[in-house]
Amino acid sequence: MPAMPDGLLRYRAEFPILERTTYMISNSLGAMPRRVYDSLHSYCDVWANRGVRAWEENWWMLSREVGDQIGAIMNAPQGSVSVHQNVTICQAIVASCFDFSGRRNKVVYSDMNFPSVMYFWEAQRSRGARVHMVRTDDGIHVPTERILEAIDDETLLVPISHVVFRSAYIKDAKAIIEKAHRVGAYVVLDCFQSLGNVPVDVQQLNADFATGGVLKWLCGGPGTAYLYVRPDLGKKLEPKLTGWFAHENPFDFEIGPTKYGEPPYRFMQGTANIPALYAAQPGLKIIREAGVERIREKSKKMTARLIELADQRGWKINAPRDPEQRGGTVAINMPDSQQVCQELLRRDVLVDWRPNAGVRFSPHFYNTMEEIERAIETVDEILGQMRVPAAAAR
Ligand SMILES: Cc1ncc(COP(=O)(O)O)c(C=O)c1O
Repeated sequence: MPAMPDGLLRYRAEFPILERTTYMISNSLGAMPRRVYDSLHSYCDVWANRGVRAWEENWWMLSREVGDQIGAIMNAPQGSVSVHQNVTICQAIVASCFDFSGRRNKVVYSDMNFPSVMYFWEAQRSRGARVHMVRTDDGIHVPTERILEAIDDETLLVPISHVVFRSAYIKDAKAIIEKAHRVGAYVVLDCFQSLGNVPVDVQQLNADFATGGVLKWLCGGPGTAYLYVRPDLGKKLEPKLTGWFAHENPFDFEIGPTKYGEPPYRFMQGTANIPALYAAQPGLKIIREAGVERIREKSKKMTARLIELADQRGWKINAPRDPEQRGGTVAINMPDSQQVCQELLRRDVLVDWRPNAGVRFSPHFYNTMEEIERAIETVDEILGQMRVPAAAAR
């Protein structure tokens, strides 16, 4: 049977870097859409021509609008997503809504969380948090059973990655959220490595909080992260990391304690990162249009092919074998993987390397199967060339 045409390839022309490189590093930085040039140009036009009036006409609402654009990709109700500088700040906002002085002060997380999300929660010990780390056995999976066991009636918060940055393992977020809710705890789901590549439905998951950034799988560039707060919680939580954007009447400039406004502004603090919000929008539009379900189907095929090619060569794979448990990245630990990575970059095959993982290949909807083959053939060439001088020296 002839292969189905790949409709997603029509977006290739939107990403200039694809003309010059084999771009397989969307787990780190998604390719820049061509339209970001126009978007940032219009930011300059507004600032140059409208000056301070830009706030009223456009910029004050922009945070909410971009929050809603991100929210649409994870089925979040309008107004439930606020935008911030990065995920670490989003974690801090959530933490600032809670008190760790009571009996319910346990924080359960996994050693496969992104380090920033680990360092932040470890640092909350000094504020009374009892931090419990669940460890991986194999550096790929995080045992769901062990997370579920650790969540007890003294647990307050469970900050976990949906897709693990190191191995692309997809955690069973639904089971973890259900257990947390049974004992009265809240889950902070870090969707940085899932949203845009793996379907996320915060309402279906009944997630309490969901966070992530737009610069990887959403092709939105650095400087914009999102925080979804479940609407019923959003109405009552009072973040202590707060500021004038969160006040119900920010332009009254009232003296004294704050009066919290409605979400999403309730979870904001000060002036928003306006240029980043302009830069974020073209990528979000393309991802919405392309559709995450379609992207996921293609991603599974591409990661399966990477695994097949690596298996044929006997290289170690640090990613789940089960496609349903695997996100968009395949980490491959071939011989001399760190050096191989440097050489791949020199040859315009853009990937990265992480300790205990190897070379991470992260194809996205804009990549072709031929690029996958070519990337692995380039590794063959590099390894072949590395062996030749070594042999010649003997
Ligand atoms: C799962 C995950 N969380 C968080 C981050 C980064 O957090 P921040 O936005 O605070 O830099 C990354 C970046 O690679 C990540 O992969």
